[in-house]
Amino acid sequence: MTTKRKQLGVGAIAGALGLLALLGIFGLITVYSGGYNVAATEDHSAFGRWALSTTMTNSIEARAPADEPPTFTAAMARAGAGEYKAMCQHCHGGPGIDRAGWAKGMLPQPPHLTEAAAHWEPNEIFWILDHGIKSSGMPAFGPSHSDEDLWNLTAFVTGLPGMTQAEYEALGGSNGHDGGHSH
Ligand code: HEC
Repeated sequence: MTTKRKQLGVGAIAGALGLLALLGIFGLITVYSGGYNVAATEDHSAFGRWALSTTMTNSIEARAPADEPPTFTAAMARAGAGEYKAMCQHCHGGPGIDRAGWAKGMLPQPPHLTEAAAHWEPNEIFWILDHGIKSSGMPAFGPSHSDEDLWNLTAFVTGLPGMTQAEYEALGGSNGHDGGHSH
């Protein structure tokens, strides 16, 4: 009775190890054979999409700073608006404003933040801007911008859901940085 159970246990472990080895071999074949299509014109499988977006959400929620965000002011949002139009609008669009044509060739597609920004806490948006999102095309702005710039952008982005096109156009000039270049 007990020996039979022991044999069953050993069999299950051997089976599991065999399966793991097989998965490892398939993994290496995928890496080396060129069989996996990296083309951005070919969408992920439903499983791949789910795995990537769930990994992203949980990773950001686990890493976003826990301290209180600063109190956002209208001046911060105005400063952030100019940066947004210069650095983000071509990928993410704006209220009533579409993404650049080439951004539609990206996979994953940069979401319209007028909707997506509502899913994130201010600290999570700050973390996303600071660190970017690996293998998605979302750049990290932390290496090139101060925390103050990133909080200004965060203040602006948290106000995007519900913002009208007229409000958007009135903020931060119509062509990027105040008095600056027009991308
Ligand atoms: C080159 C294109 C590109 C630029 C420029 C860019 N982003 Fe992104 N952004 C992306 C992509 C791609 C994603 C990831 C989409 C995904 O995987 O869901 C993303 C994700 C995000 C997200 C998370 C939204 C979500 O729910 O997926 C936020 C917030 C964001 N970007 C804000 C910004 C801001 C603010 C700027 C400018 C400072 C900016 N991005 C510049 C491409 C871009």
